[in-house]
Amino acid sequence: MLHNDQLEKWDRESFFHPSTHLAEFARGNLPQRVVTGGKGCHIEDRDGNRLLDAFAGLYCVNVGYGRPEIAEAIAEQAREIAYYHAYVGHGTEASITLSRMILDRAPDNMSKVYFGLSGSDANETNIKLVWYYNNILDRPEKKKIISRWRGYHGSGLMTGSLTGLEAFQKKFDLPLDRVIHTEAPYYFRRPDLSMSEAEFVADCAAKLEELIEREGADTIAAFIGEPALGTGGLVPPPAGYWQAIQAVLDKHDILLIADEVVTGFGRLGSMFGSEHYGIRPDIITIAKGLTSAYAPLSGSIISDKVWKVLEAGTDRFGPIGHGWTYSAHPIGAAAGVANLKLLDALNLVDNAREVGAYFKAALTDAVGSHANVGDVRGEGLLCAVEFVEDRADRAFFDPSRTVGAKVNAALLNRKVISRAMPQGDILGFAPPFCLTTEEADEIAGKLKESVAEVLG
Ligand SMILES: Cc1ncc(COP(=O)(O)O)c(C=O)c1O
Repeated sequence: MLHNDQLEKWDRESFFHPSTHLAEFARGNLPQRVVTGGKGCHIEDRDGNRLLDAFAGLYCVNVGYGRPEIAEAIAEQAREIAYYHAYVGHGTEASITLSRMILDRAPDNMSKVYFGLSGSDANETNIKLVWYYNNILDRPEKKKIISRWRGYHGSGLMTGSLTGLEAFQKKFDLPLDRVIHTEAPYYFRRPDLSMSEAEFVADCAAKLEELIEREGADTIAAFIGEPALGTGGLVPPPAGYWQAIQAVLDKHDILLIADEVVTGFGRLGSMFGSEHYGIRPDIITIAKGLTSAYAPLSGSIISDKVWKVLEAGTDRFGPIGHGWTYSAHPIGAAAGVANLKLLDALNLVDNAREVGAYFKAALTDAVGSHANVGDVRGEGLLCAVEFVEDRADRAFFDPSRTVGAKVNAALLNRKVISRAMPQGDILGFAPPFCLTTEEADEIAGKLKESVAEVLG
């Protein structure tokens, strides 16, 4: 490709980058990286660096970079018909086939798939559907949504409100009302260190119940949660958590939305996180792994129970007034079909489970006994290392020391991409599912050097 020597300048002058310190970037104090290629677990930039991407982009390039099968499916679809809308009964072979393929993999009680473009818009859809559902059932007061502190559900108006992380709400006038937050299932950060895991789970369920009673169950429509916390810290739930939470939700007739944007299609080593933890959701959010990010596509998988009410609603009030121009975009759908076929053909979900277990053991081996490593955790290929100032009394570092970001930078100097998670000194790893044990060893070995460099 032509080497444009203006590109870095244009980038600083013209491009509004998401989740970026805008002023520092404009001043030239933040690095730029122009990505030019990728293969398997590696990306390349135009300065000639080859980096092992241990976060699969934003934990989305699950089948790995540079898969010709998906590129060809996209090109073929673009040649045949790049776009037609999905309103009033229209579709393409790709969008209809993909909805079938998703339901074949989803829990049994799921009935239909609505397609959007991003995890954020899928969750916006879900909240609208939940409100619509309660209006059809003549329960106009039952509208609040419970989310968890440290949950991540997107950065739209409603989804930014559901997200329980400070950076995504500060100075944006969020959260909007109708959103309330409850305890995160984060055992390592439990408020009382003397609590056993079982006591902590009981406490999470009790706090949820108190919140519901305080607000009134007849005002609460749904609970939304990621099967394993993602951006909030990459935290698998403590044993029995989902069973305890679901018992409370069932008792109060509150719908459950499982946000599987990260966990859907294999990240935990099972096709869905709901299957992995025995969750029985009413709606499931999917995005990232649906196409492995080869094209933007998300979805809301709707259960029979909710679907019946939506149908009844249209009998009473006419066609449902919801849709995007790009709902079920054929290029995204073609990418999704090719991606799910590849996931099966290469047994990548099994690989995520098996190499995931190997990787977690390698991380534990490499840094688990370091005086400043408080926790090494993971499920499948979703792993994290959390740093502490003092292990014995679990004292966290002052955030101004940016320990997580420093280890992340030291690792990047060694050509491995991890992610410094936004709240806490937590280093995240979520590599593509094609990760090999040699690559797992390389990440763990370089992490050990990086931790020694930053923390001694
Ligand atoms: C669990 C979860 N839900 C929703 C989203 C939002 O997805 P998007 O960034 O595609 O809008 C994300 C993004 O990371 C996510 O992790």
